[in-house]
Formats: sequence, C-alpha cells, structure tokens
Amino acid sequence: MPEKLLVENLTHHYPDEYTGESVHALDDVDLSVQEGEFISVVGPSGCGKSTLLNILAGLLPYHVGKVTVDGHMIHGPGPERGVVFQEHAILPWRTVNRNIGHGLEIRGVPKAERDNRVAQFVDLVGLTGFEDKYPHELSGGMKQRTAVARTLCADPEVMLMDEPFAAVDAQTRITLQEELIRISIATKKTIIFITHSVDEAAFLADRCVIFSRRPGRIKAIVDVDIPREERIWGNMNADTRFTSKRDEILHLVREEVSVEHEE
Ligand SMILES: Nc1ncnc2c1ncn2[C@@H]1O[C@H](COP(=O)(O)OP(=O)(O)OP(=O)(O)O)[C@@H](O)[C@H]1O
Ligand SMILES: [Mg+2]
Repeated sequence: MPEKLLVENLTHHYPDEYTGESVHALDDVDLSVQEGEFISVVGPSGCGKSTLLNILAGLLPYHVGKVTVDGHMIHGPGPERGVVFQEHAILPWRTVNRNIGHGLEIRGVPKAERDNRVAQFVDLVGLTGFEDKYPHELSGGMKQRTAVARTLCADPEVMLMDEPFAAVDAQTRITLQEELIRISIATKKTIIFITHSVDEAAFLADRCVIFSRRPGRIKAIVDVDIPREERIWGNMNADTRFTSKRDEILHLVREEVSVEHEE
C-alpha cells in the first residue's frame, strides 16, 4: 500500500521569547504511515505527542526535518487531514448539528445531504435529542463527542486524533473505540490516535508508537496483529494476542515514566 504520511528527521524546539531558552520537544523523529493504517501514540506527558500531531495537521510550522502527506510537504492545514484536539474545539455559537455539519457546509454540500449525514453521526456518537443545543448546554463528554462527530462527518482521508476520548465516561469510551474500529474498517481512513490509555492504544492500533520522555524520540513500535473485525472488547481480555501486546506497551511506557520520576 502507498505511504500516506512520512515524517523524517523531525526535530522541534519551541522558542521562548522572554528567556531566550527553548524547549526541545521532538528529537529526530522518523515515522512512515501507510494508507489505511491505524497508528496509536503513547508516551509520558509533555514528551511531544501533541507537537507531532499539530505539525502533521499543518498548524505548527517546523524547521528541521521533512513531513509529507501523499508525497507533498506539509506547510499548512488541508481538507484531506481532519483533527480532533485534546481540548474539544467546537464553535460555541453553533448548535450540535451545525458544529457537526460545519465541514460539509464549508464544502458546499447541499442541505438535504448534509442533514442526512449529520443525523447519522449524531446517532453514532449518541447525541440524539441534543441536536439543537449549544456547547454551553452540554457536558464535557458531550462536547468531545460533538468534536469527534464533526471530524468524522467531514470525511477526511487522514484523521489526527489527540486524546479524543479522554473526557468521556468509561462506557461511552468503549463504545466510541469499537465504533472507531468499525469506521476504520468501513472507510479505510489513515488514523493517528494519541492516548494515555495503554488499553486503548493496544485495542485500536495496527501499530503502537511509544515515545520516550522529552525530548520525544520514538522508543519502540509495537505491532498488534489482530484483525480489526475481531476487535471487540468483550473478547479482548481473554485474548492473549491482545493482553501480551498491551503488557509489552505498558512496560515500555512505564520505563519512561519511572525514569522521569527518579530524576
Ligand atoms: N506553544 C508552546 N510553546 C512553548 N512550549 C510548548 C508549547 N506547546 C508545548 N510546549 C512544550 O513542549 C513540550 C511537549 O509538549 P506537547 O504538548 O507536545 O506534549 P504531549 O506529549 O502532548 O503531553 P500531554 O500528554 O501532557 O498532552 C512540553 O514540554 C511543553 O511544555
Ligand atoms: Mg498532548
């Protein structure tokens, strides 16, 4: 399969205009993502995961290294890449329905078709009955689900997701994880999914990227060889293919976190 995203020798420093000292966020990151692949990313807090995602989204300029989508250098956002942020970014002056349909509206999709698609995603994320509410009338988890639905509804080829389910309750989270697997089977999207949950990372991904503590480097990549059709939570804890990979990822992450605490 062709390569969808490519990151080569990516290093990133955030300048500090006041002290003149910079924060070294990413160090020589190389990653090649095939079309249709599902990649999860885990690593200690502050190791540069969101930095990498923002660079892939085209929202953060980079100066050292090369980052491409379909062979083209990334210099800004593009409709082929959709983002779900760590902090839900929905528009406060738009209702749930109009937030979810925002991308389609921008693209000029006719209202009837838009309404149809929006209804499908409202249902998918369990927001039926809240279509006409404004964000300030929603719970944190509902806002996050609106943000996820909005990105899915815009139908990008690449989904860049930064802890999208962190704020939702445990039951909804499991449902959304299974739905995301189902969507990935149906749509063949390329997905980069950042999470602090090792279970989530192992459940969702074809490959899990483990970052070192800052400055973030790729410490290891673990393949999770379970067909997506078989990824159903009810079966996972009895499936050694899952538990062994989860434990391997957990061990690799813990090494980084304990190093951090020892210092
Ligand atoms: N806009 C910014 N300006 C300066 N420093 C920043 C900026 N954004 C992030 N940083 C720093 O860069 C480092 C990496 O941050 P980043 O947000 O990428 O981490 P992360 O891995 O996503 O962490 P978390 O798991 O807590 O979300 C941190 O030390 C952070 O303080
Ligand atoms: Mg982050």
